[in-house]
Amino acid sequence: MRISVIGCGYLGAVHAACMARLGHDVIGLDVDQAKVTSLNAGVPPFYEPDFPELLTSQLAAGRLRFTTDASCIADAQVHFIAVGTPQLAGRNAADLSYVRSAVNTLIEVVGTSAGPAVIAGKSTVPVGTAERIQQICDESGKDLVVVWNPEFLREGFAVQDTLAPDRIVYGLPDDPERAEIGRRCLDECYQELLGDRTPRLLTNHATAELVKVAANSFLATKISFINAMAELCDATGGDVTQLAEAIGYDDRIGRKFLRAGVGFGGGCLPKDIRAFMARAGELGVDQALTFLREVDAINLRQRDKAVEMASKLLGGRFVGHKVAVLGAAFKPNSDDLRDSPALQVAQQIWSRGADLVITDPAAADALRHKRPNLQVVDTVAEAVQDVDVVLLLTEWQEYRELDPVELRNLVRTPNIIDGRNVLEPARWIEAGWNYRGMGRHANRTATPVSL
Ligand code: UGA
Repeated sequence: MRISVIGCGYLGAVHAACMARLGHDVIGLDVDQAKVTSLNAGVPPFYEPDFPELLTSQLAAGRLRFTTDASCIADAQVHFIAVGTPQLAGRNAADLSYVRSAVNTLIEVVGTSAGPAVIAGKSTVPVGTAERIQQICDESGKDLVVVWNPEFLREGFAVQDTLAPDRIVYGLPDDPERAEIGRRCLDECYQELLGDRTPRLLTNHATAELVKVAANSFLATKISFINAMAELCDATGGDVTQLAEAIGYDDRIGRKFLRAGVGFGGGCLPKDIRAFMARAGELGVDQALTFLREVDAINLRQRDKAVEMASKLLGGRFVGHKVAVLGAAFKPNSDDLRDSPALQVAQQIWSRGADLVITDPAAADALRHKRPNLQVVDTVAEAVQDVDVVLLLTEWQEYRELDPVELRNLVRTPNIIDGRNVLEPARWIEAGWNYRGMGRHANRTATPVSL
């Protein structure tokens, strides 16, 4: 098939390369010339495991190219919209201006004679967006059928998640003829994946849009639930990692997404739950999602807790102390700094006067660019030199494997805050460290109840 992908960020560029890998002829369109040049040269503009190899192989096969020239996508049979929907400044709602301009571009370039083309929305949008896009297309007189086809990929596993998704959802138009055109078109696109028996769900527009935000809200809720339990553990001397393991054996609860720590960040979960709340408000059902306000608040509190923990270890003052932060990306195997808990904690500690050094295996360059005020170094050894407290805030594998004995010789004071609960406390304590986790090793016991 001839496919266009509009928006070539983390989602769009990977989707484009994966569609080419499925044998289609793909053009990625983006307004950013530097990004397009880099992608055409086989150099990914972001860190994503497995993507560099996939990109070069598909460019070499001649099935994939990127452009800033919208006229090149005119004759595609399906146009995937993969632009960002970030949080609007000062508001909870999503910024839909990139979606609107993608639709405007499409209306401008697609012909009127070639028969219907399909717009397949992948961006995370407020419910009601697909309906509105269909109206705009109809008003323009162009023969475009809108399908919402949400994306569930995780950064760090983007290629794997796209080529072996756990489900595929088509949000189809109500009109049966259009629904059939949309279904057939996406079936052809995903033929190879559907052959592998990936569940395929056919829904209306609203359900498909809601599936995506409901999934992210549920994941965010799981994380905030376990972080709330971590607060209880800290207040009582409990251990949240053991608690998570114990409740996780009940497969109605499950063990995944119950890792307590400095909480969720990134370009998706935080802004998606806020946009969902904002949309519920517009729909007059804000009460249904009031709990997400608490999910957000618990999550943000974890960041403050890490800062306060460090402050306490330093006798209540950051001024005059050297602090190392290991990790800046919002999670490992990514260089994405959007709404990163690690970066926010580092920034807070820096603004309270600490001599702060930060490092990250993939995000260091992006960090130097984004936060020139911070002292960024390339290695852990440089970061921890003569520091009074080390905070591990993004659980890169190489940080999980750090040797507490070796590190002990580099720091001034052996204080470690394990902001992702990935170190073995006993090993660190044995090597002379003062260890603090998030919801474990709080060094306190519960106030006894009165009987
Ligand atoms: C998330 C969803 O997992 C994807 O399914 C979805 O497609 C994507 O958003 C999106 O909407 O595009 P992603 O943002 O890449 O994917 O990252 P996650 O793996 O979900 O992690 C999100 C955050 O939660 C990270 O900061 C991570 O460190 C944190 N987290 C995750 C925890 O604090 N505890 C956990 O147990 C799990």
